[in-house]
Amino acid sequence: MSNIEVHWHEHAVSRQERETLNNNKGCVLWFTGLSACGKSTVANLVDHLLYKLGKHSFVLDGDNVRHGLNAGPGILKDIHGEEFAKRFGLGFSAQDREENIRRIGAVAKLFADAGLIAVTAFISPYRVDRDHVRKSLPSGDFIEIFIDTPIEICEQRDPKGLYKKARAGELKGFTGIDDPYEAPINPELVLDGGKKTAQQLAEEVIAFLKTQQKI
Ligand code: ADX
Repeated sequence: MSNIEVHWHEHAVSRQERETLNNNKGCVLWFTGLSACGKSTVANLVDHLLYKLGKHSFVLDGDNVRHGLNAGPGILKDIHGEEFAKRFGLGFSAQDREENIRRIGAVAKLFADAGLIAVTAFISPYRVDRDHVRKSLPSGDFIEIFIDTPIEICEQRDPKGLYKKARAGELKGFTGIDDPYEAPINPELVLDGGKKTAQQLAEEVIAFLKTQQKI
């Protein structure tokens, strides 16, 4: 879309030139799934396997990004004050999750433009938000990976004790408990997070990237 006040500036180095230098195609590996389904673990294993293959990738992880770019009011308050935190802090309302995913989508797109493999690990519970990111990218650049782990297993794992808090009513709007998770309808990959090990799942992703000639 055009904007009369800001204009797109072409890069001196093309995406293709960067991809040649990097020895891989730029793309976005968009992991989605419930909290504790295995997103961060598998994303980091994929990142490490890519590194060992001499490819260039970087993980954007929900919990980490929510400490910086998408920090919540609690974190922002200490640095920028109450007023700023109220205006720009992101929590877990539907609107804040939408903005969380919009920003990450924009960052991941820049990574792909830089010839990198952006590996994102966000719950990204709403289909429409993920589809917006998909549409913002050239066809084939958005690889949606659904880690399909039954909620009973996620809840058993509960590494941060958040399911327990949500069940006790101490944490409102928790995905899968009292906030919805909308599974992808046509993801590029579905990984069985209940039955297979994280290493097996990461290897499935690498195999897929090879079939797509991204690496
Ligand atoms: S998303 O819904 O906006 O995509 P994101 O992936 O950034 O979520 O952050 C999820 C992480 O935030 C979870 O792994 C969990 O540690 C924490 N969290 C805190 N409150 C909630 C909540 N209400 N629902 C889901 N996750 C939450």
